[in-house]
Amino acid sequence: MIIPVITIDGASGVGKGTVSSRVAKHFNWHILDSGAIYRILALTAIKNKIALDDEIELAISAINLDLNFKALEELRTEECAAAASKVAALAKVREALLARQRACRVAPGLVADGRDMGTIVFPDAKIKIFLTATAEERAQRRYKQLKEKGINAKLSDIVIDITERDKRDRTRSIAPCRAADDAFIIDTTNLSIDQVVAQIINL
Ligand code: DC
Repeated sequence: MIIPVITIDGASGVGKGTVSSRVAKHFNWHILDSGAIYRILALTAIKNKIALDDEIELAISAINLDLNFKALEELRTEECAAAASKVAALAKVREALLARQRACRVAPGLVADGRDMGTIVFPDAKIKIFLTATAEERAQRRYKQLKEKGINAKLSDIVIDITERDKRDRTRSIAPCRAADDAFIIDTTNLSIDQVVAQIINL
């Protein structure tokens, strides 16, 4: 039997994480937070003093990466996100992580959250979602999220960070963040989380 996958892609701060975990919970499926993998790699590189553009060393590190890494607080900072976006632009790094991501497709099903889930990692997924929202709205959501977690942040800094990171994620030559041709595009700017989740479950 082919194990079903729902891919949920989109830019940072669009609400992929929350929406993905809600959809996964609804169906009782597994979840792949692919951004966390790039964040863990970035953090490991910083700790091991590997330059964020050293493609070979980073790819080796990616192959051996311990994905059970649990220092979640450290992973959620904007600094870590920016570093993740840099290492994620390297072809050999993405190649090294491809099989590990595909291995997450286990019964009864998987919700895969990222930038290239529908285009590269699970191109045969039956349901592909691409979430969008204006940069201002995404920055606001990220700001609120960080504040709730007690992490200090300035809204104006987040707008700059988010815009910069998105540009890199969208314009890189390898696996850029984009909707698959067969993806359903949902503009979440004026929708609640419940509404987005309901639309996806409906599909
Ligand atoms: O979803 P996130 O903010 O945790 O992702 C962090 C960075 O990782 C993001 O800026 C780009 C990169 N990423 C990627 O290139 N491909 C993915 N499938 C997921 C994340």
